Amino acid sequence: MSYLSEIKSSDQEWSELNSQVMVIGLFEDQELTPLGHDVDQSLDGVISKAINQGALTGKSGQSQSFFEAERQVLVMGLGKKGDFDAEAIRKAGGSIAKAALASKVSSVAVECLCACSDKSDCQALAEGLVLGSYRFTEHKAEDEDAVELKEALVLNGDEPSLRKGAVVAKGVCLARDLGNHPGNVATPTRLAEEAKRIGEVGDMEVKALDRDEIVGLGMGALAAVAQGSDEPPKFITMEYKGGSAEQKPIALVGKGLTFDSGGISIKPAGKMDEMKFDMCGSAIVLGVMQAVASLKPSLNLIGVIPSTENLLGPKACKPGDVLTAYNGKTIEVMNTDAEGRLILADALSYVTQNHDLAYAIDFATLTGAVIVALGHHTTGIMGTDEDLIAKVKASSKRTGEKVWELPLWDEYCEEVKSKVADVKNVGNGRTSGTIAGGAFLKEFVENETPWVHFDIAGTAWGEKEKPYGPANGATGNVIRLVIDLIGA
Ligand code: BES
Ligand code: MN
Ligand code: ZN
Repeated sequence: MSYLSEIKSSDQEWSELNSQVMVIGLFEDQELTPLGHDVDQSLDGVISKAINQGALTGKSGQSQSFFEAERQVLVMGLGKKGDFDAEAIRKAGGSIAKAALASKVSSVAVECLCACSDKSDCQALAEGLVLGSYRFTEHKAEDEDAVELKEALVLNGDEPSLRKGAVVAKGVCLARDLGNHPGNVATPTRLAEEAKRIGEVGDMEVKALDRDEIVGLGMGALAAVAQGSDEPPKFITMEYKGGSAEQKPIALVGKGLTFDSGGISIKPAGKMDEMKFDMCGSAIVLGVMQAVASLKPSLNLIGVIPSTENLLGPKACKPGDVLTAYNGKTIEVMNTDAEGRLILADALSYVTQNHDLAYAIDFATLTGAVIVALGHHTTGIMGTDEDLIAKVKASSKRTGEKVWELPLWDEYCEEVKSKVADVKNVGNGRTSGTIAGGAFLKEFVENETPWVHFDIAGTAWGEKEKPYGPANGATGNVIRLVIDLIGA
């Protein structure tokens, strides 16, 4: 719950700055970044000596500190110059923030590492600096690493790009916070409060329907999942109207399952605590909406979050129950642990039935199967519209957030047909479980709305530590991709 929040550009001479750490870069071919030579000279050539002796390699993320009067000079390895793209810059930003945190300083000045390429890479540098500084300590009485990184100056950086990078990264930090909070803190009510807070800042219309309203509107699938818990469920909508009245809105739908026990089809106890992360899809929506609230892009956007716990008790929904979703389709519940698709069925049919959308995308920690298929590095995607899928892939390339498309062919869609209802909430059992989830959701996308589903079960938490990623806990992955996709 702490991260760097101030990133500014400075055109002062580096020697006049009073930041505690001055950061320069070194490429793997022994080339220092432009300012590096000045700094080296003022340190009587000690940096170049270290390079010549092989003590400094320039390997990505490897750093070495030198001391000059009151100041620390940090030489950060940037990897091969030919590979120094936006993702490498983001990683360098993350490594710088982590090194600064380790040295317990509160201010750093960074040579604009992107000066050699594209000014807009400043956005990636700012993202890396903020994301790398993220820590979640809110539930500790005493914070052992109490020093916070408060300010980063980028020498001759591009101010608008730095600002945008910081805004995007703060959206990611919000998503990380919400994901990391336990189920008794990040409740549906808390998610609704966050949505309202963002709505006030960004001039959005935010509504949070309660249990009676959910039942009254005919959202029988969300209501069924929620009936096993006393925690009040919420159906949250956020409308941002930054574009013209003719511009069709984009819908972002996020699974806000604040704790998934599996329900009557209960999960094994091991790692069940991780099911507090089952609302990470909704955290993506909130993170994007928070960034939109400050970027104020000229587009129309609707955020939708169905939110509840999935518990078990005398009132809980049972295997075999038949439910009616918002669009009137009936669902046979074969497994109460396939609850994410149930609450999304109502959310997708609600937003695609009531709005003429440019497209809808949803984010959900939907299946364990996607982790088997793609591990923790890549988000599984599938959808109904080739153009939209191509755009998602292009945004993925630009932002370094990996996605991989799975096929949503008719053969798979047949697998969710039920003998007693219109559809059932599982596919064939052991095979192609992630696609079965997508095939089920497809039944609830109305009006031929172009739609893409993101199965983030592998990428929302549990990935290997990256320079700009957390060592453990929620990642906030895919927010950068979505902000790029919607053109905010
Ligand atoms: N939230 C889980 C998916 C999940 C499991 C995410 C493990 C991350 C790690 C989801 O609600 C779920 O339980 N899915 C079931 C579906 C099955 C019953 C068809 C699954 O993946 O086992
Ligand atoms: Mn489940
Ligand atoms: Zn779940």
